[in-house]
Amino acid sequence: MDWIAAVLVFVSLLLFLSAALGRRRREGEPPLIKGYLPFLGHAFEFGQDALKLLTKLQNKHGDVFTVLLAGKYITFVMDPHMYPAVVKHGRQLDFHEFSDQMAPASFGYPPMRKFSGMGEQVQRSFRLLHGDHLPALSKTMLRNLLQVMKHHFRSDQGPGAWQESGLYEFCHRIMFEVSLVTIYGHQIDTREDLEHLRDKFEKFDSMFPLLVARVPIWLLRKTQTVRKELISHFHPQRMAKWDNPSEFIKHRSEILHQYNTLGDLEHAAHHFAVLWASVGNTIPAAFWVVYYLLSSPEALSTVRSEIKAVLGLEDKQLSFSEDFTLTHEQLEKLTYMESALNESLRLSTASMNIRVALEDFSLRLDAKKSFNMRKGDTIALYPQSMHMDPDIYPEPEVYKFDRFLEDGKPRMEFLKNNKRLHYYLMPFGSGSSMCPGRFFALAELKQLLCVLLLYSEIELLPHAPLKLDMSRSGLGILPPTKDVQMRFRACNFEPEE
Ligand code: HEM
Ligand SMILES: *[C@@H]1O[C@H](CO)[C@@H](O)[C@H](O)[C@H]1NC(C)=O
Repeated sequence: MDWIAAVLVFVSLLLFLSAALGRRRREGEPPLIKGYLPFLGHAFEFGQDALKLLTKLQNKHGDVFTVLLAGKYITFVMDPHMYPAVVKHGRQLDFHEFSDQMAPASFGYPPMRKFSGMGEQVQRSFRLLHGDHLPALSKTMLRNLLQVMKHHFRSDQGPGAWQESGLYEFCHRIMFEVSLVTIYGHQIDTREDLEHLRDKFEKFDSMFPLLVARVPIWLLRKTQTVRKELISHFHPQRMAKWDNPSEFIKHRSEILHQYNTLGDLEHAAHHFAVLWASVGNTIPAAFWVVYYLLSSPEALSTVRSEIKAVLGLEDKQLSFSEDFTLTHEQLEKLTYMESALNESLRLSTASMNIRVALEDFSLRLDAKKSFNMRKGDTIALYPQSMHMDPDIYPEPEVYKFDRFLEDGKPRMEFLKNNKRLHYYLMPFGSGSSMCPGRFFALAELKQLLCVLLLYSEIELLPHAPLKLDMSRSGLGILPPTKDVQMRFRACNFEPEE
């Protein structure tokens, strides 16, 4: 429990310092909400249930307001019809200003802006995650996925025996290992070493919200140790021995090597940050996608039939000794699956899109509304409030797997106040900070479903309704507060090798 003491020390320090830090609303600025607590403002309520707090403030103060959260004044733009205006103000509202503050504190590498041209080169390297580069990446992922699944489906009780596991635990195991090996290449470590790495990752990730809240890592001693160990896993000398890393990682290493003031462990910290970006959201996303499908017999049978139709498999069930490939065209044809996937992301995402004002300017949001912003101000979108809006999504808490389809094709029109929305689904952010891994992430999730549904039987065991872990609001896909038990077995398992 040393972290609680650490946080308390840190918070009281900040309280002490904050007496002098005050903000007054100026003419033309949004309503300013400071809350009762100095410095902290509404931080506790935000930490408990951000959506509830923001909805309450919106009802009271309107669609745009500035609220104090742990020393930061953040201006929220709540009306989704205003999102495009915020996204388009790219010249004055910058994302990388924010990530350059956040990433060093969380992952331990020096701000990129200190290295001339690095940020731009890294941005350009993201092309290696999509377009022409995607099929190769997906193909490697599928091969690794089959290998890892085969391992986990091998039961000590003999072929075809049921095994039990937590579903979250299961998704964590599989997506962590598969993503790691697909992105960084096959490692020299044993499976036991990988389990240790995964364990450390889980520990680090559970403390991630505190790091983002800018609690300095030296106050969280255990987390600091775990992070050091995670970072050293990616030491350039170790990575040099790994087999078949992705083009994306090879290129990233080349970029880092151009800067000879960057130390080995700082290289490693960059790679560690990519690990977090590439699995931190994919794991909970995989959980919800599988969970909702297994909870809805209609969704499950529709998606299973779709896979078999698209792959031309009819009634055949595959065994792990059979090879299996998926082309990109086939993945794209899985529209029911994609709708189910989008619906699961809609229900579980709580990311926050953050921008920093680079100058004083007037933010025009529609024909009638504009607000003055100050240089350094933080502006945020909180799309969970759009995803849960009954005007846009009737019965928003209900999983409807075909919600994103119309006559079997992707539905393009979502309305609010009878007006078509430009943005209606934003699990991957927006504009300049849009997730560069989104196409790969969707391909990964689709392939996971294909393999699970073609090779195995899997069912949820009785459980109480699940809740989202709202304490991670703002960070991406929320995990459930509790895992749910399931049982699984391979169909047609042929023990060999
Ligand atoms: C379902 C899975 C995923 C979700 C929901 C997701 C979501 C996001 C979001 C919301 C951001 C933007 C953060 C912001 O606006 O502050 C982001 C950034 C990023 N994501 Fe993803 N992501 C996923 C999977 C992946 C995967 C598989 C990769 C890599 C292979 C990846 C790589 C990245 C990177 C590198 C960034 C930072 C971009 C930058 O600095 O400009 N993501 N992701
Ligand atoms: C699912 O969402 C993605 C964007 O996140 C979009 O490109 C795609 O068209 C959507 N698919 C369906 C079926 O709605």
